[in-house]
Amino acid sequence: MAVCVKILSAARQLHRNAAHVKLNWPNRSILTDTSVLNRLKHPRFYHINTGWFSDTALKTRITASYRVTARHHRWMRVVAVFHGQTELLTPTYRPYKLQDRTFGNRSSGADFPGEDGGDTAGSGGEESAGDGGAPYNGSQITALTPMMVPEVFPNVPLIAVSRNPVFPRFIKIIEVKNEALMELLRRKVRLAQPYAGVFLKKDDNNESDVVESLDSIYSIGSFVQIHEMQDLGDKLRMIVMGHRRLETLLVMGKMHSEADLGPELQTLPSSNILMVEVANVQHEQFTVTEEVKALTSEIVKTIRDIIALNPLYRSVLTVEEKIKQTHRKYLLQEQLKIIKKELGLEKEDKEAIEEKFRERLKDRAVPQHIMDVISEELNKLGLLDNHSSEFNVTRNYLDWLTSMPWGTNSEENLSLERAKEVLEEDHYGMDDVKKRILEFIAVSQLRGSTQGKILCFYGPPGVGKTSIARSIARALNRQYFRFSVGGMTDVAEIKGHRRTYVGAMPGKIIQCLKKTKTENPLVLIDEVDKMGRGYQGDPSSALLELLDPEQNANFLDHYLDVPVDLSKVLFICTANVVDTIPEPLRDRMEMINVSGYVAQEKLAIAERYLVPQLRSLCGLTEVKASISSDALSVLIRQYCRESGVRNLQKQVEKVFRKVAYRIVSGKQTTVTVTPDNLQEYVGKPVFTVDRMYDVTPPGVVMGLAWTALGGSTMFIETSLRRPVGGADPKGEGSLEVTGQLGDIMKESAKIASTFARAFLMGQEPQNQFLVNSHLHLHVPEGATPKDGPSAGCTIVTALLSLATNRPVRQNVAMTGEVSLTGKILPVGGIKEKTIAARRAGVTCIILPAENRKDYSDLPDYITQGLEVHFVDHYSQIYPIVFPQNQS
Ligand SMILES: Nc1ncnc2c1ncn2[C@@H]1O[C@H](COP(=O)(O)OP(=O)(O)OP(=O)(O)O)[C@@H](O)[C@H]1O
Ligand SMILES: [Mg+2]
Repeated sequence: MAVCVKILSAARQLHRNAAHVKLNWPNRSILTDTSVLNRLKHPRFYHINTGWFSDTALKTRITASYRVTARHHRWMRVVAVFHGQTELLTPTYRPYKLQDRTFGNRSSGADFPGEDGGDTAGSGGEESAGDGGAPYNGSQITALTPMMVPEVFPNVPLIAVSRNPVFPRFIKIIEVKNEALMELLRRKVRLAQPYAGVFLKKDDNNESDVVESLDSIYSIGSFVQIHEMQDLGDKLRMIVMGHRRLETLLVMGKMHSEADLGPELQTLPSSNILMVEVANVQHEQFTVTEEVKALTSEIVKTIRDIIALNPLYRSVLTVEEKIKQTHRKYLLQEQLKIIKKELGLEKEDKEAIEEKFRERLKDRAVPQHIMDVISEELNKLGLLDNHSSEFNVTRNYLDWLTSMPWGTNSEENLSLERAKEVLEEDHYGMDDVKKRILEFIAVSQLRGSTQGKILCFYGPPGVGKTSIARSIARALNRQYFRFSVGGMTDVAEIKGHRRTYVGAMPGKIIQCLKKTKTENPLVLIDEVDKMGRGYQGDPSSALLELLDPEQNANFLDHYLDVPVDLSKVLFICTANVVDTIPEPLRDRMEMINVSGYVAQEKLAIAERYLVPQLRSLCGLTEVKASISSDALSVLIRQYCRESGVRNLQKQVEKVFRKVAYRIVSGKQTTVTVTPDNLQEYVGKPVFTVDRMYDVTPPGVVMGLAWTALGGSTMFIETSLRRPVGGADPKGEGSLEVTGQLGDIMKESAKIASTFARAFLMGQEPQNQFLVNSHLHLHVPEGATPKDGPSAGCTIVTALLSLATNRPVRQNVAMTGEVSLTGKILPVGGIKEKTIAARRAGVTCIILPAENRKDYSDLPDYITQGLEVHFVDHYSQIYPIVFPQNQS
């Protein structure tokens, strides 16, 4: 009963899953012989093999499927092979009964007739009844239920084959045409004894499947199991597998034919051997010696070589060969990994990575919200596969996150003396800058904490804006980081890329923090006035956030994605001109002007800084090479007239280079450079004349201009284009302007012309010169574009000088915008302009009254000996430039 229930539940299970299940069958099976369900005429029906088995294996296998019949009855088929003991199972609970109960809609014919005699192994009669469906009619493939191959099986049908024997473990297709043998094999298969003995015929030309005497076959053959049998009616095609070697003992012949063959076969006249009694061939005992091993492997190799010639097996061998190669590669790779690990070349494993990251954070004061992000990422890293791309992204991200200097600051220098010393060491002058830095230190000292600031140094090239930043970092004991934004068009350079992009990187500021390893470095942003603007956005807008003291305590980089505190960073920007810096950006910075140098300053810089630096750079000593102060003065006056000292630096270097060459080539041992031999080193002077006009004729006046290169003097020339009082003495005059003047300057010229007419009318009413003459105004150095309103008063003066045909006072220079009514408006660049005027040997300058403050800020050595006039209306200029009128 228990078994019934078990099968029942298994069947239900099967029914649900339509799959295979295994049941532990504790008992020997009582099922005997084949019960064929083929009469059900369903091609998917198999039969139940039953029989006595003395095996101790307790496994039972039940295979089931179901179908819906025309009557909508569900029923299943069960194929069961039971191995085991059967004490508990009485005939009452035979499986066919189970079948009835389980799939109880089969009312008739489903019984397993003939099974009553269940204890007769392999009895022939049981299948004759109820088996009317002729299971092997037509071509039908029978897959035989796998079962244990008996160790000893003395009586087997004999199949004689020609040419190729079936070796143990080999599979072969055999076809049998002999009727008697076919019938015998069918029966044996049905009896669940799908075994046979395959023997090789001695005569290869004999095509028959059977032999008449044992002499026609070799005495050693193989015991085969028939795995699959295809009944083609006139022949049987079988797939057989060899198991072991057999030896024929004797022919069983007719003795067994009655029992084994059906009645129909017994009538066939036959002298052929159908059944033989066999014995297993026992292996001879041998010990495995080296020799045996070698022999075995040689045989195997030879066999393989031979097999390789057979096209059927060749493909198998190729596959095997490939598998071998892959296996070998795998082995080598594993070895390589181990070697790499040993050499420290292999990527560290996850734990090591995590350990490394945690180690970095040990001494840092990481804010909680950032620590949360880090922990989350570390967890994620643990779950990712080492070789996935996501792993690398996360790892890189963690690498950046953990290399930020959370809470790490460099000890700031708060001593004024020391800072002053360092600043003086590297740079001459630049007092505004130095003062500002000392103030900065003073504030830090009082506050007792480090602070950040955003400064912007602007001025002409080569005046030391960039180089002083490094000195400041040294003076403050801060880490120094410089990056140039000149020509930068990509916002990502400042704010970083999003992490999802391939090759994403954080912006420059985050890179700076990683490099300097402190939260309070000095960051020099060079050339802010030359920032570009590309399709990737406007980087100057990105700088707005970076340089905003209100916002940069929470600077958010796209890559890092966590707020970073930049409030302790000292930002220093440099620029040549202020106009191109966007107004909002300029507004955030503290602008400090670094103006150009006069000859005196340049001489001091050269003597104190450039000469010693460059001398040692060229590998010379003071004894070997020296430049006299006079030579330096000539160099400055005749070779390097610009505001900065970069050109001077180049010239001095040139001198030392040539000196070095002379000394090395043995011409001289020591060299002293004086004004007399200076030309040997630096060639002919670039500027021989100090200025264009030593004495200015009527109509020519010196103005002061300011450019990105610093201040310069510039003459304004005016001249008549046609004779006065020509063809049309009453006609309106005209003014032509040349010299690459911009719109503002052209307008300025028109305004000046109108005002000059009006002014002259007041001074000399009878003078109609400016009213009806055709004039030309030119500003020399025509190749250089010029623009700006500051030449207004100079143009008025030039026109008046031409009109009155009197030269203006010599060595006077002026600057100032003029309005239509003659008011003088303030202009920029007073320091540069004053320096330029001095360089040109001017003794008297005229400036707008509102620029008085700028002038008074200038150091004494610039203003010394200069006569200066501050004016707010043109009427005040007139008496200064035309003194003879007054007298
Ligand atoms: N006041 C100074 N004292 C000593 N050396 C100076 C001084 N000014 C400039 N120099 C030297 O001149 C060289 C050029 O200076 P720097 O590169 O700082 O110019 P800059 O103002 O940044 O110019 P640019 O606007 O072209 O970038 C440096 O080698 C620097 O040492
Ligand atoms: Mg610079």
